[in-house]
Formats: sequence, C-alpha cells, structure tokens
Amino acid sequence: MVVDAHVFAARKSCVSGQRMTSASRPAVVAQRKLRMAPVCTATEPTTNVKRNPNIAKLVAGYLFPEIGRRRTEHLAKNPDAKIISLGIGDTSEPVPAVIVKGLVEAAQGLSSLEGYKGYGAEQGMAPLRTAINSRFYKGCELSDDDVFVSDGSKCDISRMQAMFGQGLSVSVQDPAYPAYVDTSVMTGNTGSYNTETQQFDNVSYLKCTPENGFFPDLENAPRTDLIFFCSPNNPTGAAATREQLTQLVAFAKKNGSIIVFDAAYAIFIDDPNVPKSIFEIPGAKEVALETCSFSKFAGFTGVRLAWTIVPSELKFADGFPVQKDWNRVMSTCYNGASCISQAGGLACCTDEGYAAMMDVVAYYKENASLLKKCFNELGFKTYGGDDAPYIWVSFPGKPSWDSFSEILEKTNIITTPGSGFGIAGDGYVRISAFGHRENVEEAIGRFQKAFVGANKYTTSRFNISYFFWKYRYATASPWMK
Ligand SMILES: Cc1ncc(COP(=O)(O)O)c(C=O)c1O
Repeated sequence: MVVDAHVFAARKSCVSGQRMTSASRPAVVAQRKLRMAPVCTATEPTTNVKRNPNIAKLVAGYLFPEIGRRRTEHLAKNPDAKIISLGIGDTSEPVPAVIVKGLVEAAQGLSSLEGYKGYGAEQGMAPLRTAINSRFYKGCELSDDDVFVSDGSKCDISRMQAMFGQGLSVSVQDPAYPAYVDTSVMTGNTGSYNTETQQFDNVSYLKCTPENGFFPDLENAPRTDLIFFCSPNNPTGAAATREQLTQLVAFAKKNGSIIVFDAAYAIFIDDPNVPKSIFEIPGAKEVALETCSFSKFAGFTGVRLAWTIVPSELKFADGFPVQKDWNRVMSTCYNGASCISQAGGLACCTDEGYAAMMDVVAYYKENASLLKKCFNELGFKTYGGDDAPYIWVSFPGKPSWDSFSEILEKTNIITTPGSGFGIAGDGYVRISAFGHRENVEEAIGRFQKAFVGANKYTTSRFNISYFFWKYRYATASPWMK
C-alpha cells in the first residue's frame, strides 16, 4: 500500500482527531501537545553547523507514521485482511502505449549520435512549450515564452518560494495540499506551529467548507502577498466556478497580491462553467502564475514532467517582470526536465496522445462516480468527485481519525483523514478515485455491507431496495435460502 507522500509530510493534522468543545479543550490540547512532540530527539552534535530554524519549525510528520501504525496494528489483529487503499493520491493505470512510444524512442535515441541529447534549455524544449500552450491554453492568449517546463509542480512550488523569498505574507485554502504551507514555513514566511490552533502562526488560512461552497469568504479575508489556490482542489474535490475565480482575481488585483494557481487536476474538469486555467479569467495575467503537471494528466507521477506559466504581464511592486526572475531561478537552480520525459510530454500533446490520456482520465472519473454514488446511496453527504478524482465524504460530528479507523476496522479499506490537510478538513475523509476498477468495485461492496443503515434517515433507492430484499430473504421459505 502506498499513501500520498504529501499527506504523510503533513504535520499539522488534528492528531487526536477530537472535536473541541470549551469543556474538553484543555484536555484535548494537552493530549495534542504530547503527540506533537518531535519524533526525532537531538543527539550529540558532530558539527558546529546551526540547524535551519525554519525547517526546525516543521512539526515532525505525524500522519504518515500514524496511518502506517494503524494499518500495521490492524493487520496484526487481522492477518488475513485484504487491505484496499483508497487513500492513495497516486495514479495506478498504465501510461497509454502511444505516449510510452514517445518515451521509448527518446530513450533509444540516446544510444545513437543523431538521437543523443545532453543538457537542454532550462525552460524546456521549444516544441514542448509550444505544444503545451496550444493544447491546454487555447484562447488564453499566452506566449510560448510564458511556459516553463519542469520536473514537477511540487518542485516548482518550492522554487517559487526561493524566487519570492522571505518577508512575504501567505494565504492558503483550508484544507489544502500541504506543500503550500510547508514550503512557506521552510522559506521563513510563517510563524511557529501553534499547538493551540494546530496551525502555523502568521498564515492566513481561508476556510473552505460546504457552508461557503468551498470558496473562501474573500470579503473578510486579510490581504496577503501570495495566495495559494488549488482548483480542482486536493483534498475536497471542489472546483471553482468562473464567477468564483473572477472574484479571486478581483480580490488579488484590489490587494496587489499574486495568486499561485495550482491546476494539477484541471484535466478532470467537465463542467463548462469551471475554468481549466486561471488565465481564462480576464486580467489574471497581471496577478497570477499557474502550475500544472503531467502527473495526474498522464500518469507521469513517476516519469516527472510539469510546467508553470508565468505571464510576461505579471510584475513585482517595482515593475520588474516576475517572468525574468522565474527564468533566473530556473536557470540557476535547475538544469531542465529530462529529455525523455519531455518527449513523453510531446506525445501527450499530439491528438492521438491526448485522446489516449483522456481515456485514462475517463476511467478514473468513472471510479469517482461509482464511489460517490455508493456513499450517496448510503446516505453520506459527499462533495467533489465530479470535476476531480477525490471525493470528500462527510462524517458529521466525528473526528476524521475516528472515521478512518472505523472504515479500516469495518472494511479493511485505507482512506485519508481530512484533518491531515488542515483543521477545516476534520469531520471528513478523502476517498481517492485512483485505483484499479476491480478494487474500487470490491471496496464499494465492502462499504455497502458495512455502512448500510448507518445513516438511518436515508431514503435512498439503495436502502429501500436493500431492506426490501432483506425482508424478502428473511420471509422466504427455507428452500430459497
Ligand atoms: C494539488 C497538487 N499539486 C501538485 C502536486 C504535485 O505534482 P507533481 O507530481 O507535478 O510534483 C500534487 C500531487 O499530489 C497535488 O495534489
């Protein structure tokens, strides 16, 4: 079983998972403080080098060992348990042959004089920059020079922090992909981890819950220099509409902020009212940059290929183009994506490659719709899963960790506790639609068996038919059984 590395890196989870009331607060906080104690304790020094205090601020990864610990404990008690992981945020299906052909030909080419390639342009191969622009940004009127190819969006997020540097204020959606906060912490743009709030000080956490349609209340949000915004969102699966993104761009413009837009899951969008890029919004080029990746588009999580769009129109407070600094950072800290991966990226952008890629995306979307239907029929409130590969399942009044354990105990299925993505994620569990269909189907069967009737006010067709057949079975003559 593999579980998201980024989730494991999350250190700010609601560890005990308890919802606080004013009465239980002191006990819960004390318990959390205990559990948040660093896993690695200091030993005798061997050098005189001072540890980076910003890295030291990162609370030791707790979610990873905790999920692992609970899984091991569960397996020890149930050695025959056949674990299915729906906690995984990694792609599972093979890369289509037409795309692999591009990779293979580039790799084979290295063995010949004509095909050999050494260092390439730090910004990426010109044909790939053109192909990305024309394949994914039709109508956005971007220049090919705005496209910077890289080895991953996560890596680009880190390099952005190097470019923006210290002294900036940041906002993030809550819950959110943990890399935005963690890299901000490492850069020194946050305060320390606050065990009371279970958040880092000096970060503006923009709550995204069903009550606000998973879109932050911008009227009451403070101004920050950077706004990290992910749509379709990991973990909630919510995808911001054109109107919402128009508001976001207007908010950034009013405040003179820069939006770091993460479109890693844009390929899952079907709704025509949900933009696939922030640059579909007029004026966005002056206030946003966007990172996107072949990881979830084409199953390149292991191959490694992504890109970041930095429009020439985006300028710092002194009028200096952000693109020029990004180019400097990419040229200094990076030597370009692998020529093999880039050939694979080019194959993805051909008509044939794109069609094959969309077939795999459709497969995951079908998984998502089956899983969402299952939870809806069982009477759970679900979000996301339509324009994203994640389903956000509500377990009201129940800490995420308790739901995680209940699911594991009843079904042998691993999910991801929502609190691992931020405190606003407590009370939810993230279900990933990445996975083989037979596992998804098996998981659905297990959920149905374990949770039928759990939400007793449900009047779904599933429950009605379930109870009908249960009754028929109970009242059937013995020879029918
Ligand atoms: C929202 C989001 N952004 C970025 C990434 C990382 O992308 P990459 O594989 O290109 O580094 C992930 C991976 O799970 C993600 O969920």
